[in-house]
Amino acid sequence: MMKIDDIRKPIVADIEAFERFLKDKFTAKSKPMQEMLNYALNTRGKCLRSMLAMLCAGLYSPAPKATAEECGAQRNCSTRTYVAAMLVEMIHTASLIHDDIIDMADERRGVPSVRARFRNDMAVLVGDFILARAMDLGMSSAQYDLMSHVGKAMATLCEGEVLQDVHTRKADTTREDYLDIIYRKTASLLGTSAALGAMSAGAKHEDVERARKFGETIGIAFQIKDDILDYVGDDKLGKQRLNDLKESKITLPLIEIMDNEYASCPEEIIILLHRCRKDNAAVERLHAIVRENKGVERATETMVAYISRAMSLLNDMPDNPYREALMNLCLYVGDREI
Ligand code: FPP
Ligand code: MG
Repeated sequence: MMKIDDIRKPIVADIEAFERFLKDKFTAKSKPMQEMLNYALNTRGKCLRSMLAMLCAGLYSPAPKATAEECGAQRNCSTRTYVAAMLVEMIHTASLIHDDIIDMADERRGVPSVRARFRNDMAVLVGDFILARAMDLGMSSAQYDLMSHVGKAMATLCEGEVLQDVHTRKADTTREDYLDIIYRKTASLLGTSAALGAMSAGAKHEDVERARKFGETIGIAFQIKDDILDYVGDDKLGKQRLNDLKESKITLPLIEIMDNEYASCPEEIIILLHRCRKDNAAVERLHAIVRENKGVERATETMVAYISRAMSLLNDMPDNPYREALMNLCLYVGDREI
C-alpha cells in the first residue's frame, strides 16, 4: 500500500524549509490571535496542496537530481515556490476552518475543530486572518502572476460550497451536479496548487496548464475517495463515518444507486434523506440501501477512472523523481484509508 512518505521523498528537505517559512511568516501581534493561529497551523492535515505545488515545481526544474533520495536530501525549491505552496495551503486551511462553522462540525482530524476550541466568532476571524496574511505575503513579495490566480481559486471554492448547500437533501442531484460541486470545492484548488507550483519554477504556459489538469483530475478522484470513506471508513482513524448522510449531503455512492434501481421510485430515499439530520436509524437504513445496491463499488469505478486519467497525463511530463512521486500520489489516492 502506498504511503504518504512515498510522495514526500523528493521534497523532504523542502517540506522542512517550507514549514519553517510558514512558522516565520504566520505570526500575529496579539496573544489570542497567535494562540488560535498556532492551533490552526499545528492541526493541519496531510498538506497535500503544498506538496503538490512543490512536486510540480520540482518536476519542471531545470536539472533535477537522479533519485528521489538525492532530491530530498537538500532543499531545491525557491522562495517563490514556497510562496506558491503557502498560498494554496493557507486558502485550504482557512476554508476548512470556515467549513466547520458552516457544517457545525466539532471535530477535525481527530481533534476539536477551531470553532469548537475557540467559538464560531473567533473561528471566522482566524480564518479571515490567515487569508489576509496569505494575500499580504503574496503581494509584498511581488508575486503578482501567482496572485492573479488566487482570487479565482477562492471564488470557485465559495461557489462550490453554496452549490453543495443548494443540493443538500435533493434526491434529484445528478452525477453532473455532483461532479460540478466537487470540481469547485476540491479539484479546482488542487489544480491551482499544481499550476502555481509549475509556474513558480518557470514552466512554459502549456506545461502549467498540463500540471493544472493533472491536479484537477487527481482532485476529483481524491474527493470521490473522501466521499467513499464516509461510507466505509473507520471511525477510529479520526474522521467520523456517515457524516455526509448525517448532514443530508448527497455524494456519489448514493447518486450511483439512484441512477439505477431507485431511479423510478426514489420516495423512500427522499423520506430517509429528510430524516437523516435528526434520526440515526434513517442514516443507518440509507447506508444499508447504498451498500446493498453496490453504490460504493460503482463510485469506486468512477474514482479509478479518474486516477487512470491522471496517470496518463503524467506520461506527457518530464520523467524524473518528481514525476515518480506524483505517480505515487495517484496510487495513494486510491489506497488511502483516511
Ligand atoms: C470541505 O468539504 C470543504 C471544502 C473543501 C471547501 C470549503 C470552502 C468554503 C467554506 C468557502 C470559503 C472559502 C475560503 C477561501 C475561505 P466537506 O464538508 O465535504 O468535507 P469535510 O468532511 O472535510 O468537512
Ligand atoms: Mg465539512
